[in-house]
Amino acid sequence: MLSVRMLSFFILIFSLCDADSICPPEHNPLTLSPPEIIEEYGVNPVTVNCTTALAEHKGLYFTVGNETSRIIEEQMSISQSVSLSDWNVTIKCKVKLNESHECSKDLQVITFKNPEVVHSVQLVNVIGEETQYRLQCDIINVAPVQYVTVSWYKNSEKIQTESFNDTTTKTPVNESSILRVNISREENVVEFRCEAQLDFGPHRPKLPAISKTHRVSAHYAPELKTQNSADDTYALEGTDIILSCEAVGNPLPVYNWICDGKNMLENTTSLSLPRVNGNKTCACTATNYLGNITKTIHLHVEPTGIYSYFTSKIVDDLDETADLCLILHQIISNSEYIFL
Ligand SMILES: *[C@@H]1O[C@H](CO)[C@@H](O)[C@H](O)[C@H]1NC(C)=O
Ligand SMILES: *[C@@H]1O[C@H](CO)[C@@H](O)[C@H](O)[C@H]1NC(C)=O
Ligand SMILES: *[C@@H]1O[C@H](CO)[C@@H](O)[C@H](O)[C@H]1NC(C)=O
Ligand SMILES: *[C@@H]1O[C@H](CO)[C@@H](O)[C@H](O)[C@H]1NC(C)=O
Ligand SMILES: *[C@@H]1O[C@H](CO)[C@@H](O)[C@H](O)[C@H]1NC(C)=O
Ligand SMILES: *[C@@H]1O[C@H](CO)[C@@H](O)[C@H](O)[C@H]1NC(C)=O
Ligand SMILES: *[C@@H]1O[C@H](CO)[C@@H](O)[C@H](O)[C@H]1NC(C)=O
Ligand SMILES: *[C@@H]1O[C@H](CO)[C@@H](O)[C@H](O)[C@H]1NC(C)=O
Ligand SMILES: *[C@@H]1O[C@H](CO)[C@@H](O)[C@H](O)[C@H]1NC(C)=O
Ligand SMILES: *[C@@H]1O[C@H](CO)[C@@H](O)[C@H](O)[C@H]1NC(C)=O
Repeated sequence: MLSVRMLSFFILIFSLCDADSICPPEHNPLTLSPPEIIEEYGVNPVTVNCTTALAEHKGLYFTVGNETSRIIEEQMSISQSVSLSDWNVTIKCKVKLNESHECSKDLQVITFKNPEVVHSVQLVNVIGEETQYRLQCDIINVAPVQYVTVSWYKNSEKIQTESFNDTTTKTPVNESSILRVNISREENVVEFRCEAQLDFGPHRPKLPAISKTHRVSAHYAPELKTQNSADDTYALEGTDIILSCEAVGNPLPVYNWICDGKNMLENTTSLSLPRVNGNKTCACTATNYLGNITKTIHLHVEPTGIYSYFTSKIVDDLDETADLCLILHQIISNSEYIFL
């Protein structure tokens, strides 16, 4: 509370007829509690108290925008509930010193709106082992933009921050932050995160960051997992065979199988051939938008069964007086050898 001497000081300078000289900031008889409010737009009303150090005055009141509260004369403090539904609201507490002079104190108000974050990834180019990407985070409906910081993280490590230098706009705006990166094949999948945060500065609140994650990897044409592009496979006639062809590529390759010129209408890594009869040459092609690779598989089918053994045996042993029962016995006892 101000002393009588202080009070007379104020009375003395009234006559100077200038609010600033009557109520210089260091001698302003008004105290606001809290002195500033940082609140989300349109959420909760906030109560503000204004106290004057003047024991006698002609009225204490608030102005909120162009509206004036009731005027209190007997008390040294007044309360006002303010709801932040105007982006550019001016809130003042005023004290009338006499009919023509008053002191005024502004409440510092920051009305904010936490943004939405929308991300997008654009593949710019593939150059050899590297893929260039343009990552974008759109910060939608944020206010006031001067307090926004956008941070980019690469696999949890902060690599870039950005802020916006528009200090006058109080209403929500949209901003974008763009990161250009080159991803190599060795890096595999790289995770990028952009975080938008309202940070009102030292000793003031920081809102939780809102983030979006982008995962990117280098694109490349299909390559075979095994070195050789040709293979031989042996099978017995009449058996079921599965040929396989494993390739890597990004995006994942699509497969196509052609056997002896015929499209097998199979689009996966393996081809089933039931009851094979006769040698075949199959080509498997793995394709993505960057290229293709072909693997050729020669399937050698060995004749089998009693008839073929018998015929070949008869040719071999023509001059021996073959006993059919003996031959059959041999087939059965040697079957392991024959069938391998
Ligand atoms: C305002 O004044 C009321 C009553 O005197 C008190 O209960 C309240 O805590 C005060 N609020 C602030 C923010 O100072
Ligand atoms: C105060 O301003 C608002 C617009 O901001 C207007 O609609 C309203 O009529 C004004 N009130 C007075 C009392 O001037
Ligand atoms: C905000 O309020 C100030 C003071 O009342 C005024 O000068 C300014 O034009 C207003 N700005 C907008 C965008 O309404
Ligand atoms: C009120 O203000 C007027 C200026 O308009 C000043 O002449 C007068 O001295 C003031 N009254 C008191 C009681 O201080
Ligand atoms: C604010 O940003 C604009 C465009 O980004 C730039 O032209 C201007 O110089 C910047 N102002 C300050 C004060 O940094
Ligand atoms: C910001 O973007 C949103 C959604 O795209 C749109 O509805 C809004 O009007 C934009 N705001 C401004 C200030 O451009
Ligand atoms: C990415 O690679 C291209 C071509 O090699 C180069 O021009 C560009 O500066 C690189 N960008 C970054 C962010 O390293
Ligand atoms: C593979 O073919 C099946 C039908 O035969 C189809 O449903 C599927 O989408 C194809 N897959 C690819 C990657 O083309
Ligand atoms: C495979 O790539 C070659 C060029 O390298 C192209 O001529 C051919 O048409 C491609 N084949 C398929 C099936 O995409
Ligand atoms: C099948 O392949 C095998 C091994 O290469 C060969 O000995 C045989 O003559 C071929 N059979 C036919 C019918 O071409």
